[in-house]
Formats: sequence, C-alpha cells, structure tokens
Amino acid sequence: MLCAQGVAAPLMLSSFLLQLVRANLPSGCLIASDILSCTNLGLDQVPVELPVMVATLDFNHNRLEHLEEGSFAGLPNLDTVRLAHNQLSRLTPGTFRNTSSIRHLDLSSNQLNIIEEHYFQELVGIKELLLYNNHIVRVESKALSGLSNLQKAYLSHNRLTDFPFFSIQEHPNLTTLDLSSNRMPNLPVKDIEALKEKIQSGLFLHNNSLICECSMYSLFKQWEYRGFTSVTDFWEEHTCLIYGEQRAMVRFLKHVRYFDNCKIKPPVKKVSMEAYAGDSVMLDCITSLKGKHLNYSWVSDRYGYIAPPFSNNMLRMHSNGSLEILALDINDSGVYLCMVQNHQESSNDSLEVNVTVQIRHQEDEPFNTGFTTLLGCVVSLILVLMYLFLTPCRCWCRKQPIPATPNPANECSAQSSILTPTPPATTEGPGRKVSNNKHVVFLEPIKEAQNGRLQAALALDYPKLAVTRSDADSVTSVFSDTTIVP
Ligand SMILES: *[C@@H]1O[C@H](CO)[C@@H](O)[C@H](O)[C@H]1NC(C)=O
Ligand SMILES: *[C@@H]1O[C@H](CO)[C@@H](O)[C@H](O)[C@H]1NC(C)=O
Ligand SMILES: *[C@@H]1O[C@H](CO)[C@@H](O)[C@H](O)[C@H]1NC(C)=O
Ligand SMILES: *[C@@H]1O[C@H](CO)[C@@H](O)[C@H](O)[C@H]1NC(C)=O
Ligand SMILES: *[C@@H]1O[C@H](CO)[C@@H](O)[C@H](O)[C@H]1NC(C)=O
Ligand SMILES: *[C@@H]1O[C@H](CO)[C@@H](O)[C@H](O)[C@H]1NC(C)=O
Ligand SMILES: *[C@@H]1O[C@H](CO)[C@@H](O)[C@H](O)[C@H]1NC(C)=O
Ligand SMILES: *[C@@H]1O[C@H](CO)[C@@H](O)[C@H](O)[C@H]1NC(C)=O
Repeated sequence: MLCAQGVAAPLMLSSFLLQLVRANLPSGCLIASDILSCTNLGLDQVPVELPVMVATLDFNHNRLEHLEEGSFAGLPNLDTVRLAHNQLSRLTPGTFRNTSSIRHLDLSSNQLNIIEEHYFQELVGIKELLLYNNHIVRVESKALSGLSNLQKAYLSHNRLTDFPFFSIQEHPNLTTLDLSSNRMPNLPVKDIEALKEKIQSGLFLHNNSLICECSMYSLFKQWEYRGFTSVTDFWEEHTCLIYGEQRAMVRFLKHVRYFDNCKIKPPVKKVSMEAYAGDSVMLDCITSLKGKHLNYSWVSDRYGYIAPPFSNNMLRMHSNGSLEILALDINDSGVYLCMVQNHQESSNDSLEVNVTVQIRHQEDEPFNTGFTTLLGCVVSLILVLMYLFLTPCRCWCRKQPIPATPNPANECSAQSSILTPTPPATTEGPGRKVSNNKHVVFLEPIKEAQNGRLQAALALDYPKLAVTRSDADSVTSVFSDTTIVP
C-alpha cells in the first residue's frame, strides 16, 4: 500500500506538471497540486489556458473587469473559483458555461450591480455563493431559483431594497442566506413565513433600514422565541426606523416599548426529547411567566387533560408543572402540550414537548463482540509468533513488489503528497477572521508556508459561517481576504 502510494504520487504530479508547462500562465501564478493561485498580480483577464485538472482557481485581488464567455469551461474537476476583490461590474452571459462542477464561487468585494437571471444559471452544482460587499441593488426573481444544491448564499453589505424570497422556497438544502446590512425598508412577511423552518432559521436580516411596524416586529419576535441564532446572535443589531425616519432608529428586540400596541400571537415553543422504553422522564413546563399563582396543565393524545395534583401508576404531575412519566412504553411517543395560566395577570403561555420513545437494543451484544475481538487477537498473535519462529529468514532479503500501474482508486494523490490535508490546529493565522461584535464571519482556509513548501488547507467547506462574540477587528478586516503566498 505504502509503496503503491509512493509510485502513484510522483506519477500523478508529473502528469499534472506536464499540463502546466503546456498552459500559458502569467508569471507569478503559483501551482500547488490542483490549486492555481494568481492573486495580487494586477491581472485584467483570466488566462485563456488553464490546467485541465485544476480544482481551485484563485484570482482574488486583481483588476478583472469582465470575464469572457466560457472562461472556466473544460475543467472537469473545477470546484472552487475565487474572484474576490476585483472590479467586476457585470457578468457576460455564458461566463460559467460548462462549469457544473463548481461548488464554491466567491465574487465578494466586486462592483456587481444587478444579479441578472442568467448569471448563475449554469452553475447547477453550486453550494456556496459569496456576493457580499458589492453594489447589488437587485436580485432578479429567477436568478437563484434553479440552484437546487445551494446551501449558503451571502449577500450582506450590498444595496438591496428587496429580495425575491419566493424564489428560494423550494431549495431543499439552503441553510444560510445572509441579507444583513442592506437597505430593505419592508419585508414580504407572508413570503418569508412560507419558507421552510430551516431556511427561516438561517435568514440573516439585521442592520437593514426596516420601517418599524407590527408584522415585521412580530416576525422577528417569533424567531427570537424559537431561538434562531440569526436573531439571538445579532440581537442588538436588529434595528428599525420609526416612520422610516433615518434618525429615529430603535434596536427593536432590545427596546420593545414602541411595539407595546402590536398584537403578537404567543408563539408555541417546541422542545423534543428522546428516551428509551422503561425509563422514567420528567417533562418540565418551562415558561416565561412568573409569579406564585400559575396554573399548569398538560394535554396529550394518550392521557387527555391532566392538571395537578395528579398521580397514578403511570403519571405524576408536580405542583411546579413538571409531568413525570414513570415507565415509558412505546405508546408514550407523541406531543405533550403544557399550558400555563396566570389568572392574576390574565396572561398565558404554552410549550410543546415532542417525546420519542425508542426500544433499547439487546444488552448482551457488547460482551460478545468484545469476546470475539479478544479471541481474534489471541489467534492472530499465535499465528504471527508461529510465522516468526517457524519460517526460515527470507523476509529481509525480499524486495517489496512494485505494482505495474498506479492504482487511481488509492487514497494517495499528488495532492496528499505535497499538501497537508488538514489545517494546523491553531486559532491564529492569517486565515482566521475575527468579527466585529458578532458579525457573520467567513473563515478562510489557513494557508501558510512551512519548510519552504506551500501548504494549503483544502477548503471543502470554505468559507465557514461562524458567529463569534469578540469585539475585535473592523468590518473591513472581516471581509478582506488573504492571498496564498509562498
Ligand atoms: C460542454 O462540454 C461538452 C464537452 O465536454 C461539449 O460537447 C458541449 O458542447 C459544451 N457545451 C457548451 C454549451 O459549451
Ligand atoms: C441536499 O443535500 C443532501 C446531502 O447533503 C444530498 O444528498 C441531496 O442530493 C441534496 N439535495 C439536492 C436537491 O441537491
Ligand atoms: C450596517 O449597514 C450599513 C449600511 O448598509 C453599513 O454601512 C454598516 O457598516 C453596517 N453596520 C455593520 C455593523 O455591519
Ligand atoms: C387554577 O385556577 C383556578 C381558577 O380558574 C383557581 O381557582 C385555582 O386555585 C388555580 N389553581 C392553582 C394551583 O393556582
Ligand atoms: C418540579 O418538581 C419535581 C419534584 O419535586 C422536580 O423533580 C423537578 O425537577 C421540578 N421541576 C422544575 C422545572 O423545577
Ligand atoms: C400500544 O398500543 C397498541 C394499540 O394501540 C397495543 O396493541 C399495544 O399493546 C400497546 N403497547 C404497549 C407497550 O402498551
Ligand atoms: C391567552 O392569552 C391571550 C391574550 O394574551 C388570550 O387572547 C387568550 O384567550 C388566552 N388563552 C387562554 C386559554 O386563556
Ligand atoms: C416528533 O419527533 C419525531 C422524531 O424526531 C418526528 O418524526 C415528528 O415529526 C415530531 N412530531 C412533531 C409533531 O413535531
């Protein structure tokens, strides 16, 4: 195995280098395995010939103003294209022709103005789209609709006044859509509420120029109740303008008094819980209501209405509202609704607990596997000892067989031979970005030079969304990119 890798790596590397020699690349471009990096070279166009097997193209920090039609066609392994910090103001139709393998596209910090319908249509495989810090005023209604693999899209720090939320309704895998720091005065609340819970929970809308009004407030209040991190992590940055007046800005989740007259339907809080049959569980009725005179009750399919004091051989209800199920069986699965009322203040609250009961698997299996493993070890030890003592010594003189052809299925590749597959475990380094009080932050792959060789962490998941709470850097440093340097 080791030997096969040793042969395969140089073979693949040399075939890759051969392609490079043929490609006519600007001087200053760096190549490491399947990464081509031409950053900070003042390029005004993407080289016509690119290495065929390239997976990552990095053209950050150049002077690109437009991209030719089919700029990235014919690159079957192309996965990541980085074009941040250029001067692109629009994309030619067909720019991404024949590039369905692209997963990550970074067009942040350019001068894009309108996201036209055709821009990304051919990027059917795209998972992550970075468009923050452009001058985008509008996203055309079908611009994102065909991108069914889309998981994360970042459009913050633009000039959007609206967004076609209905066009992302069907996206199955979308988990992050960052529209913060734009100029949206109104939100189409109905369209947003129609989105899947998973999309709603990853919708970042803070620091827009929202006009203070009840439906908007109610939407965010519901999200706050549901504990969406998009709201809780940027709690103070949720701002709105009273009567749309620029000077009259309120942090509306923090200072709620303006909205005292808004009627907000009390959202149902949901909790889920898993337990094994035979266990006893305590369902706590967690409520925001305070006071001594709270009336608790539970309702469930199986047991109907339960109010304290209640106790039988299956259930016990405590005066603090907790419901204890003494020995779960499979029929105890289901939704238990707790209702709390404070008669004195005529306020109420409710909580849904979704209980899933699982059957415990047979217990004796671990012993069996343990025993079998032990037996296997003893037998192989004996066999090894027999081999060592009973065979005449030929082993030292024998050469390792060299396979005739490298095995492409082998884990070994040119990439693993010169690149470290995992980033070094540091928390510092130029790749890590820290945020300005809880901003959406992009962690870039860590790149660093060591022992004279380029080491690049391949960023499969790059850039990761991280929400940090530090108060350090400025926004510009949050979004500034580092480039691969030797
Ligand atoms: C895409 O590439 C294939 C071959 O890889 C080619 O036959 C086809 O014409 C190309 N399509 C476009 C639109 O360029
Ligand atoms: C969504 O993601 C899952 C796995 O992450 C994948 O299997 C599935 O194909 C994706 N769906 C679409 C429509 O891309
Ligand atoms: C909020 O948005 C404005 C304008 O959209 C922008 O200038 C500002 O930097 C943003 N603030 C933060 C903290 O991102
Ligand atoms: C529950 O509410 C009723 C009035 O509807 C009241 O009489 C009773 O004392 C309350 N129980 C508790 C435990 O507060
Ligand atoms: C309620 O009372 C029971 C029994 O005294 C206790 O086990 C449980 O932890 C209490 N629940 C809460 C939320 O305090
Ligand atoms: C669960 O309910 C079904 C009928 O609804 C019954 O046949 C079964 O015996 C019950 N199981 C247990 C463990 O009580
Ligand atoms: C709960 O409170 C709301 C208003 O706060 C009220 O309209 C509703 O009738 C109350 N529900 C119950 C069951 O008391
Ligand atoms: C309760 O949880 C189970 C398993 O997690 C899930 O399949 C079911 O849809 C949930 N039910 C409700 C009403 O949320």
